[in-house]
Amino acid sequence: MGHETMQRDSPENALPPMTPVTDLDWDADRARELGGHVVALWGEWLDRLRSMPVGRRASAADVRAAVTRDVPTEPMPMDELVASLRTIAFDHATCTGHPGFMAYITGSGTIPGAAADLLAAALNQNVGGWRLSPAATEIELHLGRWFATKLGLPPSAGGYVTSGGAMASFVALKAARDARAGWSIRELGTRAGPPLTFYASAQVHDVNTRAADMLGMGRDAVRLIPCDDHLRMDVGALRGAITRDLRNGDQPIAVIATAGTVATGAIDPLDEIGDLCAELGLWMHVDGAYGGVAALTDSLRPLFHGIERADSVALDPHKWLYTPHSGGVIVVRDMQSLADAFAIEPSYVHDDKILTGRGLDLFALGPQFSRGFHALKIWVSLLAHGWGAYERRIAHDVALARYLHQCAATHPELETMGPAPALSIACFRYVPRDLRGDLSADPYLDRLNERLMSELQLGGRVFPSNAIINGRFVLRACIVNFRTEAEDIDALVEQAVALGRAIHNGEITGAATSVS
Ligand SMILES: Cc1ncc(COP(=O)(O)O)c(C=O)c1O
Repeated sequence: MGHETMQRDSPENALPPMTPVTDLDWDADRARELGGHVVALWGEWLDRLRSMPVGRRASAADVRAAVTRDVPTEPMPMDELVASLRTIAFDHATCTGHPGFMAYITGSGTIPGAAADLLAAALNQNVGGWRLSPAATEIELHLGRWFATKLGLPPSAGGYVTSGGAMASFVALKAARDARAGWSIRELGTRAGPPLTFYASAQVHDVNTRAADMLGMGRDAVRLIPCDDHLRMDVGALRGAITRDLRNGDQPIAVIATAGTVATGAIDPLDEIGDLCAELGLWMHVDGAYGGVAALTDSLRPLFHGIERADSVALDPHKWLYTPHSGGVIVVRDMQSLADAFAIEPSYVHDDKILTGRGLDLFALGPQFSRGFHALKIWVSLLAHGWGAYERRIAHDVALARYLHQCAATHPELETMGPAPALSIACFRYVPRDLRGDLSADPYLDRLNERLMSELQLGGRVFPSNAIINGRFVLRACIVNFRTEAEDIDALVEQAVALGRAIHNGEITGAATSVS
């Protein structure tokens, strides 16, 4: 310090004056100008949402040509910038919030959540460290405890926001592996002990097997257990698989129960799985990425009996709490398990928590270091809507799936596939009248329904997806969309029949996989 002062004081050592570089430092008026344009586009987008096509027909090359360009050296004029945002929004975005969107498990995006995301980005909190995000960290931890309490977990439980369900399950399975391996696996790795195993139903989402891969256990370490007629894990078969592995010297670690499978919404027998885990000392993880939030509602809670026994639960607000992408939640029975699995102590992060009164640093509880304020969109949505709105809408989504199941069951050219909806997924296929009951027609019906799904997605009114049930290709609608109503289900049925007929009669052709 003294040295610098001396240098400045002596004329021959004087430093040249520094010219400020302010290009990036937009003032509040410029921020308001761009923000105003963005808010105006958002409003227009909401006004036009119902009349826009839900899916788009443009090819990847067309989209690339329309939305990408060289990065300019000088600022793009505001009107050009806004025009490019308009192209993205109105010409080349899939309208996941359109009432006809029923595909995969993609929520419609809450409006308060979108507003909150803008503010979260503006505040630019780094929710890895408490001192960099005091309110954000406390809100995120409060949210984690709120989910845990609603699930019926004890006071030691809590959680935080992840990028989605895949990361929530990865975090949980890392905690499970480290808690149950029985050696210093974080230091010595998996090679220092016997092969570790996880157990999941054959309907488990592939992100769980990928988690085993990322944990150094290999995908085959997830034993896929057969299911009953309702596509729920067969707990007798689960016990058999664990017994066999123990006999062979493998070390069972965790059972991954699914509360709402991606194909049909089946809920594994959670209480029975809880019994087995308690008996054998295994970690019980519940992949509730799709169905888990339904366990928070009074009306559907009985379907999830036993979820309160879990060591960890993956939830996904960007699915059935409808919040904008992305944001999942990991909830654990004991927050200490996350510290045990993820703690690090970077030497450059000095913190005197007694002096400062600061709270928990989330970087030490998960795989991310710097983290965004993704909890705000979930939090603001819950505050702005109130929980009652979710209770009503989630129950309505289930009623709509049952309505679709009924429509398909009573239509002479449709066939329901798989069990009746437990949650908000209904599956069916188009079967021409002349092929009803003809078992040998299945391979043809698979191809017909594959083409039908593509045509429906390209059609612009409805956007279902597919599942494979008992080896057969089926159309699948998953209602996690607060704009979908019965008229949209009717439109799906009408279009599936009209297009199915046209494909079967050879009236729709063109370059695509052949149906015949
Ligand atoms: C049961 C289940 N688990 C995990 C995932 C993955 O969740 P995400 O896409 O949020 O990572 C999904 C996605 O559909 C799912 O249905």
